[in-house]
Amino acid sequence: MDSWTALAARLETVSDRTIASLFDDPARAESFSVSLADEAVGEIFLDYSKTNIDAEIRDLLLALAEGSGLEARREAMFTGARINETEDRAVLHTALRNLDGAVTLDGADIMDGVRATLTRMEVFARDLRDGRIRGVGGRISDVVNIGIGGSDLGPAMAVQALKPYLDGPRCHFVSNVDGAHIHDVLEPLNPETTLIIVASKTFTTQETMANAQTARDWMSRGLSDPTRQFVALSSALDKTAAFGIDPARVFGFEDWVGGRFSVWGPIGLSLMIAIGPDHFRAFLGGAAVMDQHFRTAPLAQNLPVMLALSGLWHHQVCGYPTRAVIPYDQRLARLPAYLQQLEMESNGKRVAMDGSDLKRPSSPVVWGEPGTNGQHAFFQMIHQGTATVPCEFLLAACGHEPALAHQHRLLVANCLAQAEALMHGRPLKTARAMMKARGLTGKELERQARHRVFPGNRPSVMLLYSRLTPAMLGALLALYEHRVFVEGVVLGINSFDQWGVELGKELAQQLLPMIEGGSGAEGRDSSTLRLIETISRIAG
Ligand code: F6P
Repeated sequence: MDSWTALAARLETVSDRTIASLFDDPARAESFSVSLADEAVGEIFLDYSKTNIDAEIRDLLLALAEGSGLEARREAMFTGARINETEDRAVLHTALRNLDGAVTLDGADIMDGVRATLTRMEVFARDLRDGRIRGVGGRISDVVNIGIGGSDLGPAMAVQALKPYLDGPRCHFVSNVDGAHIHDVLEPLNPETTLIIVASKTFTTQETMANAQTARDWMSRGLSDPTRQFVALSSALDKTAAFGIDPARVFGFEDWVGGRFSVWGPIGLSLMIAIGPDHFRAFLGGAAVMDQHFRTAPLAQNLPVMLALSGLWHHQVCGYPTRAVIPYDQRLARLPAYLQQLEMESNGKRVAMDGSDLKRPSSPVVWGEPGTNGQHAFFQMIHQGTATVPCEFLLAACGHEPALAHQHRLLVANCLAQAEALMHGRPLKTARAMMKARGLTGKELERQARHRVFPGNRPSVMLLYSRLTPAMLGALLALYEHRVFVEGVVLGINSFDQWGVELGKELAQQLLPMIEGGSGAEGRDSSTLRLIETISRIAG
């Protein structure tokens, strides 16, 4: 029997068992948790005891990981093998943070280049922050990063996450092609003291190029040289030059850094400007600690591996279609969006590496919002809806506001309470007693009691960490990157391509002429044609 079949059989066997009953084992909390402690990072503690995973299931999940060739694949990634087979590329974002290491690609060292680019970024960021690089109107007060997907989500999320460390110019992010986005960001800014960063690996992405042109037009109203205060983060040096950006202001990166894994290099420039090069190095250092842990810790003690296996258990074995990521850390408000790209663009595939149909579901739907806000929005459904939604809670042991420590304690209490409530629920007996205490009787008591039942037995995992510092953020993001990698290897997916985003882009290009009043109707469906007609009628 293969591990998948054995897991399905085991699921059948345990389907009547409650998660709470597993705590009859006094050692459960200890045995079903993994941690990592590091001087620079602090501590990260993953508790997966509030799931239906028992020792036998864990062994089967570990066998699944081992049987997938995970360890060999992991080494292949770290050592520059071309594991992105559909694009014939290596996957070496880990090299961007392996600053003391030696990494070769096709026999040639790549670390000199990585370190040189980082140094160039640091010189630029320092010169900007210290006022040596200036706008025509004086010191740069605002930086606008124009990019989308991996060229936006990482730095935008991290700048928000590291608010206590922001001591540079204000950073803004524009991603959407909707003109409202760039309009609203640029409107209050002064072009004479604004720096525009165009972040695009390919320098062809429609949204980014449209926004970059709008920003250049905006600059030209105040500056005689409209690209004087432009920087580009891109691999396409010919295109950045054609756009008019000084090659000295271009920070390039190689095709072995995928968009959603790119915050560690030039795409992180806005973050570096915002928090300073030293904190950016700490961010890289935290990720390097996680890389080392992922590469060396035994699978059962390995944070990314165990987080991945809990996800595979819930989605691929139990069949729960979504995963909620709930940071009890307001500054991680954009983490769910970041993880949506990381997980769903990486593993939302329907064919295996060899082109055959996948035999099991790929990525779950990943979604979420910070707690406690989510409690007042969708937790009703998580507790009492008909679907089971495994929750991943993130919680810092310490906040950054000592004067508001009492609020942090409230936050902690709420997070732990949700995990408890999901697991234990509230049985009908208790609900009846509550209604009786309110003086209800008979049918009304029964009716009201049923509304107050929580079925419980709903799984959650808790990712607890010391404090959201730059090093901790780096470690957490690397943890999620490797989790996605492990899931992809176990499923036999290439996690590093994204062909699924292409078709919509092509069709948008085809539709644009029609939307602008031209031709292109041949072969189109009547729904789309009618929508175009209706839009043009309403818009006049
Ligand atoms: O959405 C597809 C995608 O290619 C992402 O993978 C990438 O992060 C994003 O577009 C932006 O691409 P670029 O950096 O080339 O503009």
